[in-house]
Amino acid sequence: MKIQIRGKKINLRALLPSDARSIFANVNDRQVSRYMKRIPYPYALQDAKAVIKKARQAGRKKIKTDYYFGMEEESNGRIIGMIGLHKISQRDQNAEVGYWLGRKYWRQGIGTEALTLILKFAFGKLKLNMLYAGAMSSNVASQSLLAKCGFKRGGRRRQTFFREGKYLDDIFFDILKKEFKQ
Ligand SMILES: CC(C)(COP(=O)(O)OP(=O)(O)OC[C@H]1O[C@@H](n2cnc3c(N)ncnc32)[C@H](O)[C@@H]1OP(=O)(O)O)[C@@H](O)C(=O)NCCC(=O)NCCS
Repeated sequence: MKIQIRGKKINLRALLPSDARSIFANVNDRQVSRYMKRIPYPYALQDAKAVIKKARQAGRKKIKTDYYFGMEEESNGRIIGMIGLHKISQRDQNAEVGYWLGRKYWRQGIGTEALTLILKFAFGKLKLNMLYAGAMSSNVASQSLLAKCGFKRGGRRRQTFFREGKYLDDIFFDILKKEFKQ
């Protein structure tokens, strides 16, 4: 059964092969991918097809280590961003969270909505105990979002990334189940 998580402006849902064009259109933007660890720029339609394939394969695994969700615009069903849980550890009951949103949708509370929905899913449905994320040191937007959703800022791993001619630190954030307020 495919999971769908209903929100207000957006829903989180499994990706379909027909989502490749909307993913490509939103993520092929240097402002979106510059602070992402695994998203290339320029981004090709083929890259979108590959991520959809990976997401669908991950969804078929019996023991899931990743969940990939599309952020679906409530009004028209189009995918405008993605959010996922990765490196899920059953043993330690934790996972890493990652996300991006198309630039024209920024600063409208959509990131907050998506992250809140995935926290609820991870702590409620999956019964995880801790979620973590790493944000590059100049990624103010992502750090603000994580702090707003209750993540606590931890340590930094220095000069982990090389972007636009500069080394950037990786700043660690985490949240425990008991700290999550819906
Ligand atoms: C990070 C991202 C998803 C934020 O999404 P968003 O929908 O714009 O976030 P929201 O509108 O819910 O804002 C959440 C909080 O962060 C703040 N914020 C968002 N963008 C900001 C920015 N550029 N500068 C400062 N604060 C910012 C908002 O003001 C809000 O806090 P507030 O309600 O106290 O004012 C979006 O900027 C993005 O996709 N960036 C590129 C990809 C990326 O960096 N992914 C994360 C990698 S770790």
